[in-house]
Amino acid sequence: MTQNLAVVGAQWGDEGKGKVVDILSQRFDCVARYQGGHNAGHTINVGNRRHVLHLIPSGIFQPRVKCVIGSGVVLDPLALIEETDAIERAMSIPVEGRLFVSNRCHLILPYHRVLEAAIEKQLGERRIGTTSRGIGPAYEDKMGRRGLRVCDLMDPQTLADKIRALVAEKNRTLEALKYPQIIDPEPLVDSYTQYGERIRSLVIDTSAYLNDLIRSGKSILFEGAQGTLLDVDHGTFPFVTSSSAAAGGVSTGLGISPKHVHSVLGVSKAYTTRVGAGPFPTECTGAEGEQIRDRGNEFGSTPGRPRRCGWFDGPAARYATMVNALDSIVVTKIDVLDTFSQVPFCVDYKYKGTALQHFPADAATLASVEPVYKILGGWQTSLAGVKEWSNLPPAAQDYLKFLSDYLGVAISMVSTGPGRDETIHLENG
Ligand code: GDP
Ligand code: IMO
Ligand code: MG
Repeated sequence: MTQNLAVVGAQWGDEGKGKVVDILSQRFDCVARYQGGHNAGHTINVGNRRHVLHLIPSGIFQPRVKCVIGSGVVLDPLALIEETDAIERAMSIPVEGRLFVSNRCHLILPYHRVLEAAIEKQLGERRIGTTSRGIGPAYEDKMGRRGLRVCDLMDPQTLADKIRALVAEKNRTLEALKYPQIIDPEPLVDSYTQYGERIRSLVIDTSAYLNDLIRSGKSILFEGAQGTLLDVDHGTFPFVTSSSAAAGGVSTGLGISPKHVHSVLGVSKAYTTRVGAGPFPTECTGAEGEQIRDRGNEFGSTPGRPRRCGWFDGPAARYATMVNALDSIVVTKIDVLDTFSQVPFCVDYKYKGTALQHFPADAATLASVEPVYKILGGWQTSLAGVKEWSNLPPAAQDYLKFLSDYLGVAISMVSTGPGRDETIHLENG
């Protein structure tokens, strides 16, 4: 039987999903994104070129693979146009016929970014530290049942009427937020009408397309953006993104039955990072954190925000393992830990002196847990580019075995560098 696979982030995003999906997509007929927007930054190194994808699935560099942006994604059409242009320049092959966009995707408009900036400003100290792409407000409009969708872009008169009505409403909100400017709908009507024409050839009913692929025995890789701990339901709310990043989002985000998700692979760094605000129990704020950041080049793909860095957070990863029922895990960036003589691994959280039974629901509790560490031995040898398990020093093997045993999940790949071939492939999964 054909097997479809979901690839999800097991931490707070930026786990290296782009590299993993790029490698695995060779084995699939289609790669489909099911949530998020251009807040994602998935890095793929092909030869000596580095590409950062925000919207387009990471299977696009395999010319045979079809790529789908499903209805659960919120789409900034200009971001899509810029990204397709960049891919066509890089690959010298058109994306048309290889990339399909759902006619049901909700749209991001410039006023979503304006509103997001105004809300974050108002939150002050309590701000989320979002990517400022308008993602949250676009999902708010979707859930509020007033958002514009790609199918609206296909009909200029409907588009114009809806934009004018929505802008009037947004201007009322901005006024209430004491925002100094108001939005003029007419330039938006013009530009979005043009974007509609530019992307028309990519737009289809992707749910029907994916279900046809499934019926004809083709295989699909479902690509998650962000990570389980940023999932709007299961993450560290309110410091989350506004979509269902965990495996549960695949079905609703693509319009396919959960019966078609056959296995789930989690991607995790050998340590932990987080961008933006929110609790991070194993964060290292001193020299060790800086060492991880420098060695791991832990700065956002764009716009280059420094990522907060810390040790592997076992309870958080165990929670992600449970929420997704992970079948296997890919551990990335193990080479970043090469220089440490000891590598602490968080095995438990203590809250007010007692071990916690469950991953806490509220951010305040998570922010005040005390991580309990098991100190594992470092290897102090370069792992950069290692391709065989047997070439890993015993301490690195022990670290990975400990991680796998702790989570109760087999490791299917270990990544030892950003390149496609800087990877150890294991039997498991
Ligand atoms: P994603 O959002 O999950 O796709 O991850 P990002 O692309 O935002 O961040 C991962 C970063 O780590 C990218 O710059 C990758 O090129 C890089 N990377 C991926 N795997 C490895 C690895 O094993 N070692 C090192 N040193 N870098 C890696
Ligand atoms: P990929 O797919 C890491 C974080 C933001 C912020 C929070 C909400 O590359 O792993 P948003 O703009 O989504 O409303 O911001 O989520 N965030 C990410 N962190 N990787 C990502 O994507 C992220 N996308 C959003 O920093 O804390
Ligand atoms: Mg990223």
